[in-house]
Amino acid sequence: MEYKDQIDLPRMPNHIAIIMDGNGRWAKEQGKLRVFGHHNGVLSVRDVVEGACELDLKYLTLYTFSSENWNRPKLEVMAIMELMVSTIHKEINNFMKKNVRLNAIGDLDMLPPKCLRELNKAIETTSVNTGLVLTLALSYSSRREIVFAAKSIAAKVQSGQLNIDDINEEVFENNLYTADMPDPELLIRTSGEYRISNYLLWQIAYAELYFTSKLWPDFRKEDLYEAIYNYQKRERRFGMTSEQVN
Ligand code: FPP
Repeated sequence: MEYKDQIDLPRMPNHIAIIMDGNGRWAKEQGKLRVFGHHNGVLSVRDVVEGACELDLKYLTLYTFSSENWNRPKLEVMAIMELMVSTIHKEINNFMKKNVRLNAIGDLDMLPPKCLRELNKAIETTSVNTGLVLTLALSYSSRREIVFAAKSIAAKVQSGQLNIDDINEEVFENNLYTADMPDPELLIRTSGEYRISNYLLWQIAYAELYFTSKLWPDFRKEDLYEAIYNYQKRERRFGMTSEQVN
């Protein structure tokens, strides 16, 4: 039986986050330039989004470009930005057909103006959609996000809008980029690396982590289904005992 048929739909996670890793190595294995890997990585994104829609997933958040990725060779950074512009442009119709709402988190002002324009246009156009919320983490750093949240809370205290004693986890969460999203229950990382790499550090406090050795350009919706199936086999205890949760 296929993994998809073994997924218990009422117990689907609401939010899946993915660290898409291994594009460069995938290209290198074939004697090609790294950019070839990124181009093929887009095919995986398309397939995984389709797979997520088939299961009525509510939120999918993809680590597309980290703040640290700006330090890559200039040509690679430019190629990824160009790829983003063309992909977002091409995918809008598909998002409309599939009822996908595009969203982005990160230090978006760092993006080249053309990229930001295309992104904002797609976010605006798809804002009427009510299905999957597809969030691209772009120029994203979780530590920066946390510092940014601390600063906005401090500003509210300074202006008298907020009392120090009223700061709690909920207030903190409401000041993160992800304020209007539930936390991911499942985090997937491809390419056999066992790291979080500054991704959604606050939000994954209780997420189940799933690592696969597949490189991102080889990852397809069947792999997503396998990860969800694996997630559903786990017992999530949230600090309690097995007897309590059962
Ligand atoms: C990680 O592989 C991948 C990236 C930093 C870029 C991911 C971008 C895409 C797949 C394009 C997606 C575009 C849209 C619009 C969603 P790596 O380069 O770090 O691989 P390596 O670890 O093998 O070097």
